[in-house]
Amino acid sequence: DLPRKVKIVEVGPRDGLQNEKETIPADIKIALVDRLTAAGFANIEAASFVSPKWVPQMATSTEVMAGIARRPGVLYSALAPNMKGFEAALAAGADEIVIFGAASEAFSQKNINCSIAESIERFRDVAEATKRHGLRLRAAVSCAFGCPYQGEVPLDAVADVVARLRDLGCDEIDIADTIGVATPRKVHEVMPRVIREFPIEGLSGHFHDTYGQAIANIYASLEEGITIYHSSVAGLGGCPYAKGATGNVATEDVLYLMQGLGIETGVDLDAVVDAGQFIAGHLGRKSNSRAGNAIAAK
Ligand code: HMG
Ligand code: MG
Repeated sequence: DLPRKVKIVEVGPRDGLQNEKETIPADIKIALVDRLTAAGFANIEAASFVSPKWVPQMATSTEVMAGIARRPGVLYSALAPNMKGFEAALAAGADEIVIFGAASEAFSQKNINCSIAESIERFRDVAEATKRHGLRLRAAVSCAFGCPYQGEVPLDAVADVVARLRDLGCDEIDIADTIGVATPRKVHEVMPRVIREFPIEGLSGHFHDTYGQAIANIYASLEEGITIYHSSVAGLGGCPYAKGATGNVATEDVLYLMQGLGIETGVDLDAVVDAGQFIAGHLGRKSNSRAGNAIAAK
């Protein structure tokens, strides 16, 4: 039986926009987050406190966090790779701190400039501070299904990093297909393996749609009992350190899937379609959501 209810974490304002070349004004990002809040998401990844030299688009994160209209009960998450990022995220009022590691050594080096072991040591301080301040702690595991630099990633490497992040006290762990290479067969290998290391209720599927497999991979994850999914309004995005990676799976497509399966999300699809058209319009291109464009054309 598939789950009856899932949580959709909207990551468009962060994962979606971080790769945009042109600087998007903070007020547009704020308007986007506000529309997403109104659409009913319980969790929105709104900011990233990383080095502006590495990801210039996220340099407006403090302004964005200060400008959004918060709805009580909604978690506004922010990435923080180190204590400097944590201090900024705390000052900005993030509800959830996201540390981000990888199952691939090569990707860890390219993305955060350190080895997996070093990253865990850095995250330890961030995790302790997060807990001390009573905030929620989430961790992303990049390249859980494949790596743009090393290719195949062994299942044991994925399980090992999940276990190490669990031991830091994470409330939630994201199993990420950074470059969208997974197919359902791989999902049926990876998810059961990580479920052995971390409570299934706290595991999420973070699928990029580079090879058009994300919806199939989400369905396969539903079959494994996973109940948290990440997606990006209008299918925005890509990772600056994963060459050729396109956006996250589009939120509108995921909501359409869930609706069809009778799985509750608490999110208003039409409102997300409007938000998707709004941001695509600002970026001067068509939305990457098939469902979003179909609904908008009606
Ligand atoms: P580094 O160069 O090794 O760090 O970068 P450093 O500690 O030596 O600092 C270098 C400079 O950066 C210093 O400034 C620091 O102050 C500054 P300088 O003295 O040269 O003027 N700095 C910072 N500034 C602002 N905020 C900070 C911060 N930290 C240092 N937090 C570092 C290491 C981790 C900082 C860097 O590699 C970095 O920022 N990486 C971020 C990369 C990134 O954001 N990638 C995208 C997000 S991950 C993702 O998208 C994947 C995900 O979606 C899941 C999936 O799909 O796989 C989550
Ligand atoms: Mg991502």
